[in-house]
Amino acid sequence: MPSQPDPRPFAADIAAFYDSVPDLTGRTIAVTGSTSGTGRVMAARCGERGARVVLLNRPSPRADAAAEDLRAAGVDVVPVACDLQRFDSVRDAAAQLAELLPDGLDVLCNNAGVMGLPDEATPDGCDVQMQTNHLSHFLLTALAWPLLQTAAERRGQARVVNHTSGARRGPTLDARYLGRNGGDLGGDGFPGFGKWRRYQQSKLANLLFTYALADRIPATGPDASILSACAHPGPTDSGLQGKTSAAGGTRLLDRMIIGRTMKVAQPVEAGAMGIVRAATFPDVANGDFYGPEGSGRPGPAVLLPPERDPAAEKLLWDASLETTGVGEFL
Ligand SMILES: NC(=O)c1ccc[n+]([C@@H]2O[C@H](COP(=O)([O-])OP(=O)(O)OC[C@H]3O[C@@H](n4cnc5c(N)ncnc54)[C@H](OP(=O)(O)O)[C@@H]3O)[C@@H](O)[C@H]2O)c1
Repeated sequence: MPSQPDPRPFAADIAAFYDSVPDLTGRTIAVTGSTSGTGRVMAARCGERGARVVLLNRPSPRADAAAEDLRAAGVDVVPVACDLQRFDSVRDAAAQLAELLPDGLDVLCNNAGVMGLPDEATPDGCDVQMQTNHLSHFLLTALAWPLLQTAAERRGQARVVNHTSGARRGPTLDARYLGRNGGDLGGDGFPGFGKWRRYQQSKLANLLFTYALADRIPATGPDASILSACAHPGPTDSGLQGKTSAAGGTRLLDRMIIGRTMKVAQPVEAGAMGIVRAATFPDVANGDFYGPEGSGRPGPAVLLPPERDPAAEKLLWDASLETTGVGEFL
């Protein structure tokens, strides 16, 4: 029987992609979740192109090792503690960014994520997946906005890049996942898929946030040169799946979902192409969404058709403002 063609991008394609990343000298790029996976690759690849890279990680030996390794590789790194499970930590991180970056922030990449964690509340009372994956990124973006404005004013452009997932597909956004209802959102199995529904809702929130933000950026005036873009990596062999299993994700459903991903997973350098493209390529437009085509398949990061849902985008914005306590944002 003829074998199926391998859908994974070849190593040569990946190398050619990173060779085409523009010179980033003089730019400052902040990445959440850069201890491993796609965020780590983005920090390294943008750093080797000359960017100063702000590593927004929760304090840990992994965070220290990432900063040391990148520094040893010649990258100009600025580590800033930021635990996305706590709004007070995000506020502290934003205050530090304001002190450390008087010349502004060119790119904020909201990359960090957790997947399939148990139905538990954060110290702020939110679902652990929704707060880590979306709510804290919403708060960080709102607080870092003046720094993006400074970069746009001084260097002509700034960007916010969110990182969603193929798992975004499913039911439309439900407000209760965005509220302070952590620990009371469906448990960890059937019915309703529990932890996997909460992951779906959080990754849908990443894309809806991108569109809601893109629409609120004025078409004229100084903010017009700030872009909101998104990417998804496709199934990627990063640290993510192992962490789901370590957090109790060992039921049949968990093993099936993780097993299906790992069967087709591409290397993490390939999975990072979408966020790197959205953050650095000159042809990116406000509201663009990049990633592999199709559903649950690896592949190169191409421009994808929009997936708009105006009612869900409005719900996302209003609920995020309320839960994070951000008074006004755009
Ligand atoms: N891998 C895939 O197949 C896949 C598919 C679709 C989408 N994605 C998305 O891709 C993004 C990156 O994931 P990855 O695959 O690269 O996984 P990963 O290797 O596990 O990286 C996730 C990063 O997020 C950080 N993080 C987790 N909780 C945090 C917190 N409370 N505060 C700050 N940082 C935190 C982790 O840091 P620690 O070391 O502190 O945990 C780590 O640096 C995520 O948004 C994920 O949803 C991945």
